Amino acid sequence: MRLSGKKIVLGVTGCIAAYKACYLLRSLIREGAEVRTVMTRSACKFVTALTFESLSGQPVSVEMFPDNRFTSVHHIHLAEWADLILVAPATANILGKTASGVSDDLLTTIICAAQSPVMFAPAMNSFMWTNPVTQGNVSKLKALGYRFVEPVAGDLASWAKGPGRFPEPESIVEAVVRLLSVARDFDGQRVLVTAGPTYEFIDPVRFIGNPSTGAMGYAIAEAAKSRGAKVSLVSGPTMLNAPPVDDFCSVVSTEQMFEAVKERVKDCNILVMAAAPADYTSATSFSKTKIKKSDESLALNLSPTVDILKKLSRSKGKRVFVGFALETDNEITNARKKLLEKNLDMIIVNNPTEEGAGFGPTTNKVTILSSKSRPERLPLMAKRELADKILDRVSKILGRTR
Ligand code: CTP
Repeated sequence: MRLSGKKIVLGVTGCIAAYKACYLLRSLIREGAEVRTVMTRSACKFVTALTFESLSGQPVSVEMFPDNRFTSVHHIHLAEWADLILVAPATANILGKTASGVSDDLLTTIICAAQSPVMFAPAMNSFMWTNPVTQGNVSKLKALGYRFVEPVAGDLASWAKGPGRFPEPESIVEAVVRLLSVARDFDGQRVLVTAGPTYEFIDPVRFIGNPSTGAMGYAIAEAAKSRGAKVSLVSGPTMLNAPPVDDFCSVVSTEQMFEAVKERVKDCNILVMAAAPADYTSATSFSKTKIKKSDESLALNLSPTVDILKKLSRSKGKRVFVGFALETDNEITNARKKLLEKNLDMIIVNNPTEEGAGFGPTTNKVTILSSKSRPERLPLMAKRELADKILDRVSKILGRTR
């Protein structure tokens, strides 16, 4: 019963996945949560309020003014009562309304008056989910601190396949448990995270880069933020929406990443270099015009970029430095060498040739090496879960240095 004593307002909006909210409601109650359901009028077209009333044993609220009577401050009461407002399924409409501050029914009014975290579990047709307006609303809401359980790719109600499918109720419950039982062990800590690749352009239209998605670094930044840290995220080019951090800096080249990190590291006590910066640049031989193809082979004159960690390790002081190592062979030996050479407290090694590891967007399989303990092999897990495991170990190191 991991949600004992937790009070949750479950907001159900109008979408075919509304029937799955019934399972979600049962699972939340099974975990010990006290749940009050609020439905929009369109949600009632898919599932009746009576279903949720029967499952929860609690009255369900739909109308702001039931029977045209003024119900005092029901919305404010529910907003104050809740430890979490969970909108599942969340339509494009509710995301748009919340992002624009529209409060024209009971649920949107409760969200507007919320004093607790608000979490959305979106479900919609792929084209609606990928619509730039929807994605813009999601980015805006994330930047404002609203939480999301991302929709998954798979069969949609229309039998089409694509992103937008309602996440399984179990994964929503896990996200709720994680949010409501989150430790605040990073209160007062200042964490700097780097993420993604860097690009070194050889001409105006081509670059040397790597397939890093940035997902690992973004997950660490998000986890550190939710554990109470003040977080800066320096990111190379990625397709991800910025997580709700205190400071977000977007860079392209390794040199730009170095400058951004150097400027910020002074104010931080933890640096996590999850980025995969390009090791070589053609800056000195950059062609201002597009290199035209020919039948001749092309020789590029590349010079090494700055090794950010190595350079900063000299002025590390009491800061905790965490690095990543991407190795296809001799993983432990190579990573241990980097641990020493870059003066790190901890290094996370992964082998991109292993199933589910490396640049893949959602999971990773790693071994953690530290200067003080034996290598620790972790099973395949979601990058967000791994982010918390890494921070658990950083927290232990902090305990030793405090
Ligand atoms: N790193 C860095 N500056 C670079 C390259 C890498 O600070 N120019 C950091 C990475 O963010 C990572 C760690 O160093 O935390 C190890 O990166 P990795 O690419 O595994 O190793 P490299 O040092 O680049 O060495 P090699 O590519 O030869 O394995």
